[in-house]
Amino acid sequence: MNIDVFTLFPDWFGWFSAQRHVSNVLDRGSSLECVNIREHTPLSGAQVDDTPFGGGAGMVLRVDVMEAALRARYGVDPVELRQRRRVIALAPGGRLLDDRLVDELAGEQQLTLLCGRYEGFDERIIEHFASDVVSIGRYVLSGGELAAMVVCDAVLRKLPGALGHEQSAAQESFSVALEGHPEYPHYTRPAEYRGWAVPEVLLSGHHQRIEQWRRERSRERGAVAEAGLSPSSP
Ligand code: 6GU
Repeated sequence: MNIDVFTLFPDWFGWFSAQRHVSNVLDRGSSLECVNIREHTPLSGAQVDDTPFGGGAGMVLRVDVMEAALRARYGVDPVELRQRRRVIALAPGGRLLDDRLVDELAGEQQLTLLCGRYEGFDERIIEHFASDVVSIGRYVLSGGELAAMVVCDAVLRKLPGALGHEQSAAQESFSVALEGHPEYPHYTRPAEYRGWAVPEVLLSGHHQRIEQWRRERSRERGAVAEAGLSPSSP
């Protein structure tokens, strides 16, 4: 998997790439590279954004600047590029990231992530250069960088070698194995703490009963999350 991130803040990704589960995957032939949009601007004074037509607050990332950065990286018209690889613009109003989309992206050989800043992108970037628009939730971040890291984290940990145990990703929350439900609760030692006992069945060594208990809890949690409740709501 080769991921290119177009950003005005490439330094942010140094910390992310150094994290063990990320570096494990990068050591196995995947790559995560940043393109500093500002380095490719054709405008003077390293300008990358501009005030919105029609007025309003904030600054908008310019379409000509994004085209220059994409051309510098790929040497083709970005309008063509999106036919060849997923070019994902990160924006709060996009398709919500979920396990299904993560699986879909993890199946790609190459991804390009475009991070907007300030008020976001000139809409023509989204209309003509992007193949997808992805959001990590219905709230506004000050830029796409954190969202891009969320996408990278979720995608990269699905690749072989990211996790200690290859089984870990298959049975986790929202997986097909759990019928799309969140994961069941986990417990470890001590078996009792401040009078809070671990469910008896988990200490029983009875694998079938444990499996059944886990499936039930997973389903139950799914229903609680659907209803917009927190598991420990009083
Ligand atoms: Cl992808 N970008 C921004 N700026 N804010 C967001 C987001 C993305 N997803 C949720 N909020």
